[in-house]
Amino acid sequence: SSGSKVLVHFVNQSGVKTSVFVTEGETLLDVVIKKNLDISSFGACEGTLACSTCHLIFEESVYDKLEPIVDEEVDMLDLAYGLTKTSRLGCQVSVEHWMDGMTVHVPQEINDQQGKQEAVSSK
Ligand code: FES
Repeated sequence: SSGSKVLVHFVNQSGVKTSVFVTEGETLLDVVIKKNLDISSFGACEGTLACSTCHLIFEESVYDKLEPIVDEEVDMLDLAYGLTKTSRLGCQVSVEHWMDGMTVHVPQEINDQQGKQEAVSSK
């Protein structure tokens, strides 16, 4: 039915979860913009398949049911950091009713300084 809302949970780079009700047919990029979700530099190319900043990680059961991926999206995803086997570009995925209750994750930002941080033992 038109106007029905789909519940989607977003987990941002910091692990903070935001749950929003979304109109069917909107892309996940539309949702992030409309709901003003706190995801830094998301959707830099405004959905024109010219970046990979809208990279989202899906649950496997959801990923398996998404529309087929096109070559242009594959090429952009290849450039994304933190790529997983259930990664897609959020601007290419439209919300459908069956997605109700799904959780999408923004890849954790890789922080060089944290990576290099060493545990200091005082033993
Ligand atoms: Fe740039 Fe999706 S917003 S590819």
